[in-house]
Amino acid sequence: MAQLQWFPGHMAKARREMSERVKWVDIIIELVDARAPYSSKNPMIDEIANNKPRLVVLTKSDMADEERTKEWVEYYQSLGYEAMDVNLKRFKEYNRIINQCRRVLKDKMLKEQQRGMKPRAIRALVVGIPNVGKSTFINALASKKVAVTGNKPGVTKAQQLIRVAKDFELFDTPGILWPKFEEERIARNIAFLGSIKQTILPLDDLFIEAMKYLNVHYPKLLEDRYQLSFDLESDWILSVFEHIAKVRAIKKIRGETDYDRVIEIFFNDIFDGSIGRLSWEDVSCVED
Ligand code: G4P
Repeated sequence: MAQLQWFPGHMAKARREMSERVKWVDIIIELVDARAPYSSKNPMIDEIANNKPRLVVLTKSDMADEERTKEWVEYYQSLGYEAMDVNLKRFKEYNRIINQCRRVLKDKMLKEQQRGMKPRAIRALVVGIPNVGKSTFINALASKKVAVTGNKPGVTKAQQLIRVAKDFELFDTPGILWPKFEEERIARNIAFLGSIKQTILPLDDLFIEAMKYLNVHYPKLLEDRYQLSFDLESDWILSVFEHIAKVRAIKKIRGETDYDRVIEIFFNDIFDGSIGRLSWEDVSCVED
């Protein structure tokens, strides 16, 4: 998977912008994808967090394996983070996030007031890799709310804070972290989440890897979605292609199975969750 490289220029710029914003906030809300909460968590945030409290939010919990999500939340809590899982499609879950931030910062805000400072709203920055749900979260909260702090020194107009509750402000644009592709496994998991443009992906390799993984960990999903079960025998991959093409009635091209279409259909099912709930990694991947 050597193709999955990122460009250092993007990384450096993202890092600079993020470090600048971090100075202005009380808490960092770090969104990771519940289906791969380790691979989608960028270690760069550790370097720029500047000791600010962090809430790790595992998004898309409705698409992930419940059992594993529970273990991941416990894992991050055991490392000393605040952590929770959410389904951002359900607006009522947003309050859980905000309430958790309030709890974390209660002492800090109280101390400020005891020192004679005026009560003020909590300021939060939402960060995460592409497609993890940052705009869904911010846009839902920010709709019809007022930008309040465009003229604070250091906070440019393009980076306004939006008051989303009486005591809560968010940057109106999220911090984008580029995925780290150091390990092939991480690159692959991020690709399975749909966080990388499909046009630059080696989709046929990914198809094979995904099939192998699902065959071991979630055979029932393959069975339910494609009536597919297989053993890893010599030409298993060809028979998998043929089978899905047949089950999904994919038209042949000049008498040949349309492999690209099979891959496309499969990844659409993966990306939008129609294949069913699944996770691409469990906590044992960091315990080794
Ligand atoms: P980003 O800003 O971090 O890049 O991510 P964005 O909010 O654009 O979310 C990417 C996609 O993930 C969106 O789907 C969004 O609806 C979906 N999404 C975000 N959080 C959740 C969640 O907790 N559960 C589920 N099931 N989906 C979630 P889309 O198809 O691109 O847009 P839309 O048609 O849903 O608006």
